[in-house]
Amino acid sequence: MTAWLVNGNRADTVAVDDRGLAYGDGLFETIAVRGGQPRFPDAHLERLAKGCARLGIPYPGDELLAKEIRLLGNCEHGTLKILLTRGGGPRGYAPPQVRMATRIIGLSESKPGGTAVDAVRIRYCETPIAVNRALAGIKTLNRLEQVVARAEWSDPGIKEGLMLNDRGDVVCGTMTNLFLVSGGGLLTPDLGECGIRGVMRDRVMRLAEQNNISVAEVRVSKADINEADDLFLTNSLIGAWPVAELNGQQYERSAVTSRLMQLLAESGVMECAV
Ligand SMILES: Cc1ncc(COP(=O)(O)O)c(C=O)c1O
Repeated sequence: MTAWLVNGNRADTVAVDDRGLAYGDGLFETIAVRGGQPRFPDAHLERLAKGCARLGIPYPGDELLAKEIRLLGNCEHGTLKILLTRGGGPRGYAPPQVRMATRIIGLSESKPGGTAVDAVRIRYCETPIAVNRALAGIKTLNRLEQVVARAEWSDPGIKEGLMLNDRGDVVCGTMTNLFLVSGGGLLTPDLGECGIRGVMRDRVMRLAEQNNISVAEVRVSKADINEADDLFLTNSLIGAWPVAELNGQQYERSAVTSRLMQLLAESGVMECAV
């Protein structure tokens, strides 16, 4: 069950004229709660603040958000969601001036899933991801592309689908960022034109740099993926998932992926402990 606060008050409904509902005019964060604490809260709030600046939505400030999160109480293991919207307004796309974002914050408890991640089977999606420099990198409420892409399969054995832009570049998974292991280093799709700059992606890139593993943001084609030694996917809740199979092609977990999973585990992402 999720406990919700709307603008600091216990509630589980929002106004029907909220622009988050009408237009996806807002942003969100999904944060893992582990050992009773939100994981990497600063990185999530930083992305939220950047997104607000990009959309011209007033950022409520770290302090107010932290205070409202505390009001939700304690949870040992679960998921914290923060949604910010531009709030209500008259009909029409023109964004009204607002003094404060509408804050919708939810906390749900869940059972720890354990560690020792099995490698996952994934596929390519047909649904393209649109190129849009204005929105690239931030985590807006507009997730319809991901919803349509995720509707492409129902086999529970397939854990994720990779999305391509119209030029044929592989950009990301429906809910994850992608890394390729190639020549002993890492490649990850450049997100200057679309995709979300993931908190876990940033963490992997930083850990790689600190440990002398090369990492480059590049355009990635299906051919690059065919030739890669290994692939893995990241997000805030799963940490990292090694890929076992993509559209029938098998991958063996490389030493680089194992090392990064170990580094993630040591930096607090216990899901990656082997
Ligand atoms: C489309 C998409 N890309 C990437 C990510 C990974 O982001 P993060 O590492 O911040 O969870 C997510 C997470 O939900 C996502 O939905």
